[in-house]
Amino acid sequence: MKKLKSILLGLLTVMTLTSQNNVPVYLDNSQPLELRVKDALSKMTLEEKVKLCTAQSKFSSHGVPRLGIPEIWMSDGPHGVREEIEWDSWNAAKWTNDSCTAFPALTCLAATFNTQLSRDYGVAIGEEARYRRKDILLGPGVNIYRTPLNGRNFEYMGEDPYLAARIAVPYIKGVQQNGVAGCVKHYALNNQEVWRGHINVNLSDRALHEIYLPAFKASVEEAEVWSIMGAYNQFRGQHCCHNELLLNKILKADWKFDGVVVTDWGGTHDTKQAALYGLDIEMGSYTNGLSSKATFGYNDYYLANPFLELLKKGEVPMSVLDDKARRILRLIFRTSMMGNRPYGRFVCDDHSNTARRVAEEGIVLLKNDKQFLPISAARFKKIAVIGENATRSMTEGGGSSTLKVKYEISPLDGLQKAYGLQNIVYSKGYSTGPSVYGRVIEPKENQKELFDAAVLAAKDAELVFFVGGLNKNHEQDCEAGDRTTYNLPFNQDNLIREILKVNKNVVVVLVSGNAIAMPWLKDVPAVLQSWYLGSESGNALANIITGKVNPSGKLPFSFPVKLEDSGAHAFGEISYPGDSINQEYKEDILVGYRWFDTKKIKPLFPFGFGLSYTTYEYGKMSADKKQYAADETIQLSFTLKNTGNVDGAEAVQIYASQPKASVVRPAKELKAFDKISLKAGETKTVVLNVKVKDLAFFNDKTHSWTVEPGEFVLYNAASAAEIKSTVKIQVK
Ligand code: BGC
Repeated sequence: MKKLKSILLGLLTVMTLTSQNNVPVYLDNSQPLELRVKDALSKMTLEEKVKLCTAQSKFSSHGVPRLGIPEIWMSDGPHGVREEIEWDSWNAAKWTNDSCTAFPALTCLAATFNTQLSRDYGVAIGEEARYRRKDILLGPGVNIYRTPLNGRNFEYMGEDPYLAARIAVPYIKGVQQNGVAGCVKHYALNNQEVWRGHINVNLSDRALHEIYLPAFKASVEEAEVWSIMGAYNQFRGQHCCHNELLLNKILKADWKFDGVVVTDWGGTHDTKQAALYGLDIEMGSYTNGLSSKATFGYNDYYLANPFLELLKKGEVPMSVLDDKARRILRLIFRTSMMGNRPYGRFVCDDHSNTARRVAEEGIVLLKNDKQFLPISAARFKKIAVIGENATRSMTEGGGSSTLKVKYEISPLDGLQKAYGLQNIVYSKGYSTGPSVYGRVIEPKENQKELFDAAVLAAKDAELVFFVGGLNKNHEQDCEAGDRTTYNLPFNQDNLIREILKVNKNVVVVLVSGNAIAMPWLKDVPAVLQSWYLGSESGNALANIITGKVNPSGKLPFSFPVKLEDSGAHAFGEISYPGDSINQEYKEDILVGYRWFDTKKIKPLFPFGFGLSYTTYEYGKMSADKKQYAADETIQLSFTLKNTGNVDGAEAVQIYASQPKASVVRPAKELKAFDKISLKAGETKTVVLNVKVKDLAFFNDKTHSWTVEPGEFVLYNAASAAEIKSTVKIQVK
């Protein structure tokens, strides 16, 4: 019977493979994906299959020229489509048609707490990638914000796995609806840049599954992402780009990922491991895997000729190669060989609008004494704008996410437009060198002169906008290095202090993707966290400052008062940055607000915090029942009223805790959120669902998600530190 079935199936396949007007099935995009893959694979030679697995240039991998199967073209990511790079080097190719729209960096997107906006963002950046003929967009980044020192936090979505997952999923779906693959990165545990190429991360299974994997898991299971990028670091003794547990077991077996694992550039280290432990495409390796040369021998890549040899010798089974080739073909059929593939769009008003809306909704108002903001054009006539970040391009630098943009409205441009050129003087206050990968270049200007001139300008003005923060230089918010201090760099703390001595009306605008210390906080009336906002930066900022748009962003990570307060820095060097070989995440599951809340440490600003120009009144929350079974959903509802006199939007948050459990459970964890728009005076009923199964913890002993029966407490809250009401429920 079984035999008959397989003969029939075989016959059917042969029939369909040749049926349609003699067009081979793999070229016929009306045929089912798996059939096309099977057909293409059956026509390929061993050498052709192996070729698929490696780069042919800095950002492309081989196709199958004989069969008309295209190469794969990739681009960074994650907040704009990177300029074209030379075939064989990191130099710009100097094309004139590749200046893109810069969207806000992903911390800003997460700060919107708006999943629909994330979808719009994904669609727009996907359109730009498609127009530029990219097949894979290297993003989004979803590594968890573990320490404020991580140089790449700005490319990620904050400290909470639930928030990162909810924001990543629509981004990926938006990108992929353009026939462009998302490539969620960096899988996994690349939570610092120091020693990123080799540091061996150790942590409990529980922390791995509860904190560091959920956003990747949701990207695979819910967004059905078509590719994923391995991380540079090691996890339990194996590099993440060929890691048996992470790639073979968790990603491919447990989550059933059917897409392509791409290395981070230069993240492959061994042929046999790359072959056997889950890698599919190798990018960015140097000829001998060690040194940087001007010409790279792509045939010498680990997964090129050395892989072919192992296959020929029978040291690696052919099934391993077939699996990789199948995955790569699948990606090609989903992208460049997809039927009805959209054409994309590039640098258009719609994309600028999306970029600006994300920026406006992501900016966080951290402090606003006595309604100091918004500031109408009539209120002050002499305004000083101080700080290098008011004019510095923030779309450039930062490492691989650097962008060549069509335009970028700086904060100074935006403020000049809003308040009139004649009313504004600009003084830099400090200066920093150009963005150069991997090293710091000292600025040429005399810093004392800049400092003194800024204080004079402040003295002479009625109002000061201090636009500072970090930048995209080495050891700031930048790849390949972490920050060396939690305080503001470039003497900015002193500058703010001196400015405050001569002028009390100071609005501090922090341009950064990371938390910073604020020793001057109590003396300034208003503080805005403005992230890296992309092309529309200055417009968005001015719209918030003038009140044209009411701020509604909330922090996607906590700001500790001082570095040692945060979980990653509470256990000495082995926990951060490690001993140069090994690292242990000793704070375990208590990352971000889970640490601050559970240990009762007051942060400077809590996760989920952000002010508005209006006020909201939260009604008491109720649940639809008192008792739930493990497979049920808890429906929570409460009223939300805009009690002020301007329209606004509030990111409401639901947290949960289990007071009595057999394991340590965080004081609370985010389980749902929504962004609710309300006209002045308007009231809405907010309804949010939490699945009982999402109240589970990862059980290290049974290696499964466990919901222990008993009492759970649910909170509706305006931030992790501002609970509005609680509801107790029982789980049977
Ligand atoms: C980064 C990746 C990036 C790749 C290609 C690497 O250095 O870690 O995020 O996509 O380069 O530019």
